[in-house]
Amino acid sequence: MTLNTKQRLPTDEINEGPGAMQSLILKLESTLSAPSLAQIYEWLETTHVSTEELQPYLGFKEGNYWRHRVCRNEFVEMLVLCWRPGQRTPIHDHNGSHGGVKICQGVLWETTFTFDSVAGLEYSGARELKAGSLTGSDVPDIHQLGNPDISGQDLITLHVYAPPLGVLHTYKPGSAKIDLYVPDETEQLV
Ligand SMILES: [Fe+2]
Repeated sequence: MTLNTKQRLPTDEINEGPGAMQSLILKLESTLSAPSLAQIYEWLETTHVSTEELQPYLGFKEGNYWRHRVCRNEFVEMLVLCWRPGQRTPIHDHNGSHGGVKICQGVLWETTFTFDSVAGLEYSGARELKAGSLTGSDVPDIHQLGNPDISGQDLITLHVYAPPLGVLHTYKPGSAKIDLYVPDETEQLV
């Protein structure tokens, strides 16, 4: 999902250089309620995290993308996801959470869908996002994210969700069946 300018908060000062990641972590840890999607977009848009600061959260594996949690409290969480070419999420919604995604390195493919309880899941559209871009999902957006198999490069993305993700709903094209999906919590580096 793309926010239009009316939905965005006034841009705060740019948060970059050494400590940018830590500064964002402190903002998330000091929040006293679930931040709005506009607030999450503003934080991600104005924060430029260096490869050095991402380093503790980087790690790839074969077969599936790898999630690394940076921080989490009852209102919000932040994750770094690492994707080899061809790795992708299931088609999913966020079961009541909203969130923003910033592309730190590589190319992200995002595919969006609509759901009707009778017609089932239908393809809506797709787009490609490059490093520095933002995307995200409001409730009840349904999407699939991934690193294109033909990208020839790894993908690193920074995710902020409010409230933290729990059990997600997954979908299949042409089907009205909704399944449950729990992102693997056993594979965090931190
Ligand atoms: Fe998602």
